[in-house]
Amino acid sequence: MKVEDALQKTRAQFVDANPASRAAHEEATATLPGGNTRTTLYFAPFPLTMTEGSGCRMTDIDGHTYVDLLGEYTAGLYGHNNPVIRAAIDEALDAGWNFGARGVHEAALAQLLCDRFPSIDLVRFTNSGTEANLLALATATMHTGRRGVLVFDGAYHGSLLAFADGGIPINAPHDWVVGTYNDIAGTERLVAERGADVAAILVERRLRPGRSGVSCDAAPHRRRHRRRPHLRRGDDLTDDGRRAAVSTRHHAGPDDAREVSRRRHDVRRLRWAA
Ligand SMILES: Cc1ncc(COP(=O)(O)O)c(C=O)c1O
Repeated sequence: MKVEDALQKTRAQFVDANPASRAAHEEATATLPGGNTRTTLYFAPFPLTMTEGSGCRMTDIDGHTYVDLLGEYTAGLYGHNNPVIRAAIDEALDAGWNFGARGVHEAALAQLLCDRFPSIDLVRFTNSGTEANLLALATATMHTGRRGVLVFDGAYHGSLLAFADGGIPINAPHDWVVGTYNDIAGTERLVAERGADVAAILVERRLRPGRSGVSCDAAPHRRRHRRRPHLRRGDDLTDDGRRAAVSTRHHAGPDDAREVSRRRHDVRRLRWAA
């Protein structure tokens, strides 16, 4: 059987096996753009709708149980409904939530992060990666007084920060300079030409071009960035590092924390979800 035929057969099987997910998706599109709250969660012909998760397993609305190998794109390392995390959430909720005021736990959590990552001095909590990156770039442009942001073709940094084919029309209105991932010479050339107006370089450790699932490691970039030969004093480097910084390193312990701390980024985005 040809690959295309096999794909078509598999797609048809997917549709047949998931009528409730299909109906839930179609119903959701009446009130949610694209039928979801986060573009990342959509895939064609429709995404599955989950009803519950426990440990490493999730069950969807059609009653199928899956082993979850995604781990909430790395932030769900403890699995679903972990009893220790659940107890901490319950305890916090017992005291009430959303006060429109400071709470007692936020500074303690920020302190934990600063202790874990010595390169971090200050923490701003956000509700999504998109928001975190928008704030990081706003900070960099305000701090440097420059308008430009260097990003890499194919990268995804959020709903308004997507660079498949160079960028999407709804991207936030920064002055984007788009480089080629792992093209060190080309990047140095871009920085030499445009550097005076570049406020930040937004880069992740592992690029998944066009969200196709194909990964590309950033080893050459990382080595360069650590030494930062092409960045002058005052330049910002923004690490959209959910994968490396948050998954393996964040949960790994003091040695890894020291290793992370050697990488001097001015702004680092961490992803953390229970
Ligand atoms: C590397 C990276 N940065 C940013 C984002 C955006 O995060 P969010 O969906 O929480 O806005 C994603 C989402 O998948 C991501 O993979």
